[in-house]
Amino acid sequence: MKVLITGANGFLGHYLVTALLQQGFNVLATGKGACRLAGQGTNGFDYAEMDFTDLSSTRDTVSRYAPDIIVHAGAVSKPDDCELDQALAWRINTGGTHHLLEAAAAHQAFFIFISTDFVFDGEKGMYAEEDQTVPVNYYGQTKLEAEKAVHQYPHPWAVVRTVLVYGEPLAGRSNILSIVKDKLEKGEGYKVVDDQVRTPTYVGDLAEGIVSIIQKKATGTWHLSGAEVLTPYEMACKAADFLGLDKGLLTRVTADTFTQPAKRPAKTGFNISKAKMVLGFKPVSFAEGLAKTFLG
Ligand SMILES: NC(=O)c1ccc[n+]([C@@H]2O[C@H](COP(=O)([O-])OP(=O)(O)OC[C@H]3O[C@@H](n4cnc5c(N)ncnc54)[C@H](OP(=O)(O)O)[C@@H]3O)[C@@H](O)[C@H]2O)c1
Repeated sequence: MKVLITGANGFLGHYLVTALLQQGFNVLATGKGACRLAGQGTNGFDYAEMDFTDLSSTRDTVSRYAPDIIVHAGAVSKPDDCELDQALAWRINTGGTHHLLEAAAAHQAFFIFISTDFVFDGEKGMYAEEDQTVPVNYYGQTKLEAEKAVHQYPHPWAVVRTVLVYGEPLAGRSNILSIVKDKLEKGEGYKVVDDQVRTPTYVGDLAEGIVSIIQKKATGTWHLSGAEVLTPYEMACKAADFLGLDKGLLTRVTADTFTQPAKRPAKTGFNISKAKMVLGFKPVSFAEGLAKTFLG
């Protein structure tokens, strides 16, 4: 089975490539620009440059590889970047998804789109798959529009939503734990919000959950996240304790302390019962996630 991944140079992308190779899939990792993954050509995956905002390049790459499955993880994943350049965010997150869906349809590939808890408004919290989506920022809006396009795909599809992903950043964006480690090791203070609620997700669990979706050909919408409810401040304190660093350098703040371009939903977090029951999804505890992040 051939799997084409977008956003392979990103944080999730790296773990996804590894998890798929471990399960014996053939993998074409794609990204904007050169490959930034270790092991290209030696670890059994191929790489192709593909900017999915370019329809003809997307069509060419997809038709040359003729994948059975496409996992679309590429995105402008930072909400503030999306808020500040909305045209670009739409072109990448929504327009790019349209291009990939068109290219995928020619091969009747199983299309898996990685989405976000930011499609919800953050009022209710612990969202299930069928809860009402009301994004409060432009990032969420672009991802929700992309989800709606995926729903129209005439072949099998899955939408995988996830929440505040953490782990060792082998590639792609930094995450809250890597920032905490970095700041505290340098003796720098760090302000962390304590009035946002999340169910943080260990990146390796997310990658394995996506592999299960592929193996079970599990269509529809899936919530994959950790099971523990934590605020970013609580996560930061636990990380400081784990690393033996001075958590006195962490300052507990409320979200309105920051003047961020993109509003954040206050209370997200996922109900993952469906994934547990149908996929056998078993996320690690946050304590185990910390050990995997910092000890490997
Ligand atoms: N991380 C989280 O906490 C989180 C939470 C919820 C949902 N998600 C979703 O999960 C997915 C993976 O996130 P991540 O954390 O791995 O993000 P990431 O590290 O920012 O990776 C995204 C990748 O997409 C690539 N990309 C952007 N525009 C592209 C284009 N036009 N053509 C090809 N590639 C392009 C980026 O390439 P460059 O590196 O070259 O810019 C980057 O490597 C995203 O869809 C994100 O929305 C993430």
